[in-house]
Amino acid sequence: MKQRVYEMLMMLNQAPLVRYISGLPPKEQDHLIKQLESLDLSVLEANEQETKRGKIDPLQPVTLAEIEPKRSEYRKLGLKAIREGKVGAVLLAGGQGSRLGFDKPKGMFNIGEERELYIFECLINNLLEVTREADAPVPLFVMTSVQNQIETQNFFRDHHFFGYSEENTWFFAQEELPTIDQNGKLMLSDPLKISTAPNGNGGWYASMERSGMLKVIRDSQIEWLNVFAVDNVLQRIADPCFIGAVIASGMDSGSKVVKKANPEEKVGMMCLEDGSPSIVEYYELPEELQNLRNPDGTLTFNYGVILNYLFRVECLNRTLRVKLPLHKAFKRIKYFNKKQGYVNPDDPNAYKFETLALDMVRLQKSCLAYEVDRNKEFAPVKNKSGADSADTARTMLKANGVKL
Ligand code: UTP
Repeated sequence: MKQRVYEMLMMLNQAPLVRYISGLPPKEQDHLIKQLESLDLSVLEANEQETKRGKIDPLQPVTLAEIEPKRSEYRKLGLKAIREGKVGAVLLAGGQGSRLGFDKPKGMFNIGEERELYIFECLINNLLEVTREADAPVPLFVMTSVQNQIETQNFFRDHHFFGYSEENTWFFAQEELPTIDQNGKLMLSDPLKISTAPNGNGGWYASMERSGMLKVIRDSQIEWLNVFAVDNVLQRIADPCFIGAVIASGMDSGSKVVKKANPEEKVGMMCLEDGSPSIVEYYELPEELQNLRNPDGTLTFNYGVILNYLFRVECLNRTLRVKLPLHKAFKRIKYFNKKQGYVNPDDPNAYKFETLALDMVRLQKSCLAYEVDRNKEFAPVKNKSGADSADTARTMLKANGVKL
């Protein structure tokens, strides 16, 4: 077994790791070999692959002005679906929040000023508004990483699920993939551990399958899943109006979008790719398209996604075996090496491999792009300071009447 793993590592240009392992006592060698066997090393071959994009055209969403006259009709439809138990919510909380530089799960970040108000609490408060109005629960599935699962679960328990019902809350961990340094070499996080990182937010449905969550979904006959990011403190979850609009449209999925604040804003762009709804990450949109303007001066690619999607379970099942593209993200990753010992870098130093939830939209036959007011629904906490930081999110929470 050892020889086979060594050969594979050599084939993948990982000679330094082979040298390191060979220099260890046999028991420790076996330990690392066993871990390597369980890892998906095929990502190392995918390392150099580039995602080929199709022809990109703008996609016109259903706008705020168009939604307004239908709001109460959509709302009723959405609330009916919730009351019939057809709607579940999936909180994506497996990220590492490396830009924020907060060493705990991001949801444990205290956004309060004069009182404690955790990000998880903000989200649950928003969800509670809906479940109270519907007088029915929305099963909540919380995706964590392997690293932050216990801490996240304990945090919810210690805070009595922030008033949400424990029996309607499930936790599951996402899978891991190896990380690589800037020379494409595997890294160690400990003397006896290959460095791995969560495999991106696109793996959520496959991870739900592997962890048995799809059985819960089948048993409870959930038909729609609202997937959302942990780090938008104004995130509206299981928004009845959004759910109603998607159901009324007859489409397979929906994505909330906002008008971009500026052409360079770092949000995925909702567009048509070869004629089908798709989302292109901000760094993949060519500059000329990013700045393209309509005759009236508005941006041609004017709508960004806020990581709030609604998927039809039946359609998700059809796409379970499809491999999503792998994206390489340059991140701040702690590591260990023999010369320096443990290193905790201040700046991005290595790559993790991620699949992205936004790529799941392309796998759906149809997607309703649904505009929301960014001042009411989009306050991301991404960075330590400046744009999209805790400070900007606090200002927006206050503007929306939340006491900090
Ligand atoms: P981001 O893309 O902002 O990544 O996540 P991040 O890891 O949280 O933060 P940075 O980039 O290191 O600063 C967007 C959403 O996707 C979730 C995050 O928790 C957040 O809700 N996510 C991200 C996962 O659930 N798993 C992942 O592997 C990555």
